[in-house]
Amino acid sequence: MTPLLRLTDVCVDIGRKRLLDGIGLTLDRGQVLGLVGESGSGKSLTALAIAGLLPLIGGKVTGGAIHFDGMDLTAIGEARLRSLRGKRFGFVMQNPMTALDAVQRIGEQIDIVSRLHLGLSAQAARLRTLDLMAQLRIAEPSAVAEAYPHQLSGGMKQRIVIAMALAGDPELIIADEPTTALDVTVQAQIIQILTRLSRDRGLALLLITHDMGVVAQVCDRVAVLYAGRIAEERAVEPIFEAPSHPYTAALIGCIPRDGMAPGSLHGIPGAVPVSGRYPSGCRFNPRCTHAADLCRQERPALRALPSGGSVACHFAKAETS
Ligand SMILES: Nc1ncnc2c1ncn2[C@@H]1O[C@H](COP(=O)(O)OP(=O)(O)OP(=O)(O)O)[C@@H](O)[C@H]1O
Ligand code: SF4
Ligand SMILES: [Mg+2]
Repeated sequence: MTPLLRLTDVCVDIGRKRLLDGIGLTLDRGQVLGLVGESGSGKSLTALAIAGLLPLIGGKVTGGAIHFDGMDLTAIGEARLRSLRGKRFGFVMQNPMTALDAVQRIGEQIDIVSRLHLGLSAQAARLRTLDLMAQLRIAEPSAVAEAYPHQLSGGMKQRIVIAMALAGDPELIIADEPTTALDVTVQAQIIQILTRLSRDRGLALLLITHDMGVVAQVCDRVAVLYAGRIAEERAVEPIFEAPSHPYTAALIGCIPRDGMAPGSLHGIPGAVPVSGRYPSGCRFNPRCTHAADLCRQERPALRALPSGGSVACHFAKAETS
């Protein structure tokens, strides 16, 4: 079966800097794919590339292909891309305020999406808006629909942005760290809502997060990014049981576990390289405890694993299953 979304060898440049270099991943309908990696690894650039929004930050796709339901989004032109955004895929950004209009009532902001993309009348659009709000567990939807963004809490605003992303009945939602600005309980609720919608509606969800704990709980697959390249991309269970890439293993090692003394958690030693100033060979080599001469000389190719997925490491552990 053709996946709903497939990125093949995608490269992204801003100015003369190559910031994404050969990104490959796949996402099926009804699946949740976690996109993880430390700050600066290229998660948001990947999301913007898929949504066709790179021009907003002066970037462009300079290589590879982004297939969505068989169409190459890098080749269809801005007009068709605009017609797909909102209707066939929705985007939930990290900061809800950037997606909301401060001077327009909440209900109108959601209504407009289904009027535009589904051709609903004003009345039908409002019914749909109230129904979506109820699905997102917003109490008193009619009252909230009349409110302005500044009257709502951060968690409520984020639900509204999700309602807007869902209003056009898309097949894919791209959620870029949708919960980092929220407190832990609200974070858990929002993630739960998104993943439930994915299962119930057969919606594909690309969930960008720093949090490997969230990935373990809710994702079907995970793509691990490091310094603008894919380190490993696989189903969640095998990746947590036996990560093939040392960087994935290091990220998993950073997940807090029950019984850990407070303060005993450490990050991965060393820092992500500054964009455009990458070490030669494998970009992870200065931080990798398994690095050998070959790692400093040759870039490890992204190669397919027998059980599906792929890994880019000269010495990737063989799969056990
Ligand atoms: N507009 C821009 N101009 C120049 N460089 C940029 C721009 N946006 C991002 N970058 C660089 O591209 C790299 C990837 O950035 P990106 O925002 O995708 O990281 P990220 O994985 O989303 O990080 P975070 O977890 O902090 O959100 C970083 O090194 C960043 O400095
Ligand atoms: S290629 Fe070498 S440096 Fe890179 S992750 Fe694998 S072992 Fe480490
Ligand atoms: Mg980001």
